[in-house]
Amino acid sequence: MCGIVGYLGRKNARDIIVTGLERLEYRGYDSAGLTLFNEQLKSFKIYKNIGRVEKLITSTMKMQSHIGIGHTRWATHGLVSRANSHPHASESGRFVIVHNGVIENYIDLKDRFLQSHQFKSQTDTEVIAQLIEKFSQTHEVEQAILKTLEQLRGSYALLIIDTLNPNKLYTAKNKPPLLIGKDKDGITITSDMMALIDYATEYIDLEDKTFVVVTNDDIKLYDYGFERLGYQMHHFDMKKESSEKGIYPHYMLKEIHEQPGVLRKIIATYFDDEKVKINPVILDAMHASDKIYILAAGTSMYAGLASEHFLEVFTHKPVEVHIASEFAYADTLIQDNPFFILISQSGETADLRACLIKIREKGHQTLTVTNVATLTLAKEADFFLDIKAGPEIAVASTKAYVAQLAVLSILGYALSDQTFPIKLELSKVIQGIEIFLSNTENIKRLVSQKIYKQNAFYIGRGTDYATALEAALKLKEISYIHTEGFAAGELKHGTIALIEKGTPVCAIISNRHINLNTRSNLQEVISRGAIPIVITLKSLSDLNDDVILEDVHPMLAPILMVVPTQLIAYYTALNLGYDIDKPRNLAKSVTVE
Ligand code: M6R
Repeated sequence: MCGIVGYLGRKNARDIIVTGLERLEYRGYDSAGLTLFNEQLKSFKIYKNIGRVEKLITSTMKMQSHIGIGHTRWATHGLVSRANSHPHASESGRFVIVHNGVIENYIDLKDRFLQSHQFKSQTDTEVIAQLIEKFSQTHEVEQAILKTLEQLRGSYALLIIDTLNPNKLYTAKNKPPLLIGKDKDGITITSDMMALIDYATEYIDLEDKTFVVVTNDDIKLYDYGFERLGYQMHHFDMKKESSEKGIYPHYMLKEIHEQPGVLRKIIATYFDDEKVKINPVILDAMHASDKIYILAAGTSMYAGLASEHFLEVFTHKPVEVHIASEFAYADTLIQDNPFFILISQSGETADLRACLIKIREKGHQTLTVTNVATLTLAKEADFFLDIKAGPEIAVASTKAYVAQLAVLSILGYALSDQTFPIKLELSKVIQGIEIFLSNTENIKRLVSQKIYKQNAFYIGRGTDYATALEAALKLKEISYIHTEGFAAGELKHGTIALIEKGTPVCAIISNRHINLNTRSNLQEVISRGAIPIVITLKSLSDLNDDVILEDVHPMLAPILMVVPTQLIAYYTALNLGYDIDKPRNLAKSVTVE
């Protein structure tokens, strides 16, 4: 969702900010803007528009500036409009700010402090700018900002410019991430690591309720009582290649092809030869629990569902998977001694954070399985496991899903008697993915011939049902074809009414025990006009099956079975001419509830 980039230093702030905003485009946004100091006119100017960052690149083409702040907005308070896009200025224009997050009490603040003020937007953010200006009439700037921060309820990562002082940048945060990167030329502040590539050699990962004053060569951190704070600098070494598409036309395709490499990295991380390497404190806590709860959203939730069986078999404990946004506000009956696993690619998902707050209040132990170690969900849980997927830029999650499955299976194995030859079986999965990806002509043909209707179904039983749900999500989110994932045996209890001539129904079959059952469900829809597609393993295959994959152990099959469905989604969206990496209405990091 929203993204922030600010710069103060010797390089051209315009270039760093627009490059940073472009790199943050993958998060999803509907408008973009920035403010820059015009070195000739000695004044700040705001540029903003609905739509792509590209427009900003054109409108600021000749600008030279040593300071500026920029933002990509995903509308929450107020429509998608130029007026609502960031930056926002105070009434006189003195203070200009960009903001990630949601100020819950902004209406109350308007009523209490700003009744006589004129507002140009419907946003909660403008209230912050106005409040700073109001308090600056009686306080020094730093104190005016702190007094404003004291009033704010909710979440914020803020960059603030006082246009009367173009040599200072102010920033503060509570909940959303904020990083301060530094190199010999200047200081870049951003909500996402990607914006630091090329512009930082080290960075500070800000803690909540920190106020920072940045000058050309200095970064001063304060608490909200204006007491100086120390900080830790981390080495920054993310490479440009990780943020680029390379030889691939889309990030999604690149990320699909990266999956074997990611799985190898996971094996290298979590094994020392044959010995599994997971913090024994995590294992002890899980051993001591009587039930495992998995909480997640979207694709990550499906990773939970696909791992449920494996975890139950290997831990001998019941496992329950919940949708984060439901669990956060439901009165779910919890076992006496639960252990919670939170799964999130981004590490920022607000629904999951709401769960974490609830669980921590009750004093239960939590493990976050995520791709971004520095982010809130990793830092606030008791334990953390890295899925090692590397930056995932396409909104449609692919390699992170596969990585989540692999890490959860290794976790399950670590809790078992460790007799299952997991390394060998995972290698077979990697090989299976590589063999499948080495020739994808079959998938292109299948998509052109069979997926042309506005409705489609994926069906499966057991873990194949979880794969069917994820496969359906992938197809609908980037091709806008209405697709449902269904338990194969359940279709006939009502939903079969939707099957008509030409409806594609794709069966996923990875388990010998349910092979014939799922195939007979497929026959039921074929006799009602459906176009069947079968994705299966070699040893279970029939002559006319569409995608036949190498045999792998059924426990690990979800890691392989999902890959053809990712490509089906990709090529369908490609055929339809959609923006594959940035599908409509979606954001990569969903930081609002
Ligand atoms: O970052 P998270 O894994 O917590 O995000 C949860 C969902 O928003 C996410 O998995 C979403 O469903 C995928 N981008 C879909 O491909």
